[in-house]
Amino acid sequence: MRRKIAAGNWKMNGTTTALSELATLAGQIPANAPNVVICPPATLLIASAEACAGTGVSIGAQDCHMQASGAYTGDISASMVADTGAGYVIIGHSERRDAHAESDADVNAKAQQVWGAGLTAILCIGESGAVREAGTTLEVIAAQLAGSLPDAATGANCVIAYEPIWAIGTGKVPTLEQIVEVHDFIRAGLVTRFGAEIGNRFSLLYGGSVKPDNAATIFEAENVDGALVGGASLKASDFAPIIAALAAS
Ligand code: PGA
Repeated sequence: MRRKIAAGNWKMNGTTTALSELATLAGQIPANAPNVVICPPATLLIASAEACAGTGVSIGAQDCHMQASGAYTGDISASMVADTGAGYVIIGHSERRDAHAESDADVNAKAQQVWGAGLTAILCIGESGAVREAGTTLEVIAAQLAGSLPDAATGANCVIAYEPIWAIGTGKVPTLEQIVEVHDFIRAGLVTRFGAEIGNRFSLLYGGSVKPDNAATIFEAENVDGALVGGASLKASDFAPIIAALAAS
């Protein structure tokens, strides 16, 4: 059995007033709910972890540094994230790979920091629109996995999120066939690399314009174990139906 996970990435949105939205969401989690993770901005990690303690909502950070400590002004280490009470860290999001020039090697190093701090990584991969049009999506996905996923990865310490860059924040969603193709490809690659026992344990999330009205269809795919949701995770009234659709899948 794999963990079903509905993860919300608030990106650079939310001040302390957003904590009430979190409390509303935590109050709406059904008993049969999948794992729910909210990744607020770093400024809200401690308050969010406190607000969600004892509820069905776990907290995650949106990034961490690839070193354990040192002269890295403005950055946050994995152990600092753990100290907030958070349990997860998103690493390798395309917005960080792009705007902060993070390489697969950087993401690989971050994963190891995440595990060293006892946290779970949500490791993001995904192709650009140009790659999709060029027909080389699977090659790019394979290279990202080979470069950014360390050998010590397991289904317990790592969740993989497939997020086509062209679908993030655009309202453009791949067809179910396109999602199935990539998720099945990732699963097969994990089984080849880690063996069936470990490879089948990784939860694979789809991300990119997941909304209440398309979530159920996306969750029909056998190798889609949940979603990484941006815009639709900001309001409990949008995210709760996505969680419910995952619970029903
Ligand atoms: P979106 O973002 O749901 O707003 O498209 C997804 C993500 O970037 O994780």
